[in-house]
Amino acid sequence: MCGIVTAISTADIVPVLLEGLRKLEYRGYDSAGLAIVSNGRLARLRAAGRVAELAALAEREHASARIGIAHTRWATHGVPSERNAHPHISGGLAVVHNGIIENFEAIKSALQARGYVFESDTDTEAIAHLIHSKLAAGADLFEAVRLATNELHGAYAIAVLAEAEPERAVVARSGAPLLLGVGEHGMYAASDTAALLQVTRQVIYLEDGDVAELRLASHRIVRPDGSSVEREIHLSSLSADAVELGQFRHYMQKEIFEQPQALAQTLEIITGGGSVAPQLFGARALEVLGGVQRVLVLACGTSYHAGLVARYWLESVAKVPCSVEIASEYRYRDSVPDPDTLVVVISQSGETADTLAALKHAIAQGMQRTLAICNVPESAIVREASLRFITRAGPEIGVASTKAFTTQLAALALLTLTLAKLAGRLPEEQEARHLQNLRHLPVAVQKVLELEPEIERWAQRFAAKQHALFLGRGRHWPIAMEGALKLKEISYIHAEAYAAGELKHGPLALVDRDMPVIAVAPADELLEKLKSNLQEVRARGGELYVFADAGSEIPESEGVHILHMPEHYGMLSPVLHVVPLQLLSYHAALVKGTDVDKPRNLAKSVTVE
Ligand code: G6P
Repeated sequence: MCGIVTAISTADIVPVLLEGLRKLEYRGYDSAGLAIVSNGRLARLRAAGRVAELAALAEREHASARIGIAHTRWATHGVPSERNAHPHISGGLAVVHNGIIENFEAIKSALQARGYVFESDTDTEAIAHLIHSKLAAGADLFEAVRLATNELHGAYAIAVLAEAEPERAVVARSGAPLLLGVGEHGMYAASDTAALLQVTRQVIYLEDGDVAELRLASHRIVRPDGSSVEREIHLSSLSADAVELGQFRHYMQKEIFEQPQALAQTLEIITGGGSVAPQLFGARALEVLGGVQRVLVLACGTSYHAGLVARYWLESVAKVPCSVEIASEYRYRDSVPDPDTLVVVISQSGETADTLAALKHAIAQGMQRTLAICNVPESAIVREASLRFITRAGPEIGVASTKAFTTQLAALALLTLTLAKLAGRLPEEQEARHLQNLRHLPVAVQKVLELEPEIERWAQRFAAKQHALFLGRGRHWPIAMEGALKLKEISYIHAEAYAAGELKHGPLALVDRDMPVIAVAPADELLEKLKSNLQEVRARGGELYVFADAGSEIPESEGVHILHMPEHYGMLSPVLHVVPLQLLSYHAALVKGTDVDKPRNLAKSVTVE
């Protein structure tokens, strides 16, 4: 979380910094700030709230410069306020930071003892004073940053600017993303490529431990011990369109509607191919996947729900025992390691601190068979795992994950088929049928999207509710969970999901006419059981909203509203059923007037515990 931009150019960089921050707002949006060196003086502007506030301030102040650093914040240490907004300053030095410095208290005490005065509640200010202390001891800026970062524990990406050295900025990273941009008119750095597309496509991914100096027409990278290192320049293929809103009102809406395309891109690797192959998961796949006895999925949030769906698939199709665990729990739990277990980490961002730590924890316990399913190729989680499957959803900007989720499911379906095949449990004709369904998935999802107008009408009624209950069974239970998560994330309506069979063991007590009950009702082997559960709701006066597959024969009646889904889609049905739930929460949030793409208190990539 938090986004960083740095620029040095022959032209005014303030518009570049602000545009970069706008693109990074998904990473955090409670305050923003920038520092520039203009006419030999360091100037800092900060504003609580969105980047738009900072932009207005910059305009009022006529801010303009050839070098600067900027930041959009998601508060960790200290409340969101102007005082805690970055950059933080020490003497003529300014620092912006993404991440968490775990030993900041110790650094702070040592610096306070030497007379440094702290003005904010942040851990970042300790970095600023620490670098300043190195400068005061005689180091130049580049060296001072390197020496200071050697003392930091935790995760960071930082950018540093000094009034005394206005010809360069210094950046460093460890455990948080940062890349350099090589432009025609200058050098840049940012938390992601999208922030730099405005000025360049040439990017250099920094490695953990790198410290880099940016000058107008050159850059230099060193390792923690000071040795120089060269890093390759990549030409980014990310299109500017992919991060523009276009005809849509919100990124979330755009991303919901991009799902057919995102799925088609993710599944392109099986187009035309008559069979699944382990190589879909990387060069070492055969070696890593062969002999796998069990699967352990580790993930957070929406990605965790993708794992829960996969458990049903892996056990029923591949007959591989599977457990799914929330990464933040697994990393601190005494568990029993097993070298024959495939550890699958799922993450749209590839940065989630808990998921990364859970993966490292599993590896440290001797679990070497690891696979990352991720939407960001160069991310920390991908680098850590021995196998990778990169979903090709394209950039997801809306904080509530949608297309990343459905493409994760596509990847997990491929994993299921691959493991089934390796275990000799996938007869050819079944494999062909599964592959055909996967290839047809984008079209099937497109059909579901056509239900939007009807869902919009339902959303009107939801918006007035305080609570909602989501029910599902089998592989659609995690879909009910995802529906509830989406609704609370963006509309702030309290929502809970239950396996429908559990209703009578507690939640039924909550059911009355004010509690809408949303049911995911695929025409699968559990449909009759689900119908009985729905009767239990009706009998208590609960109002039902049912997403029913064609042929499920649930009649519309007073208090029972039916949304007619297409025909049942077998194993992949969860991919279809999540779509109307995404739309329902989107439209409920619209009616309520919440900030759909940037819900309060949340962030897109959670790089802190
Ligand atoms: C945040 C995002 C969610 C996401 C979760 C896990 O909470 O807002 O949309 O599901 O993190 O993120 P990951 O990047 O690991 O999938």
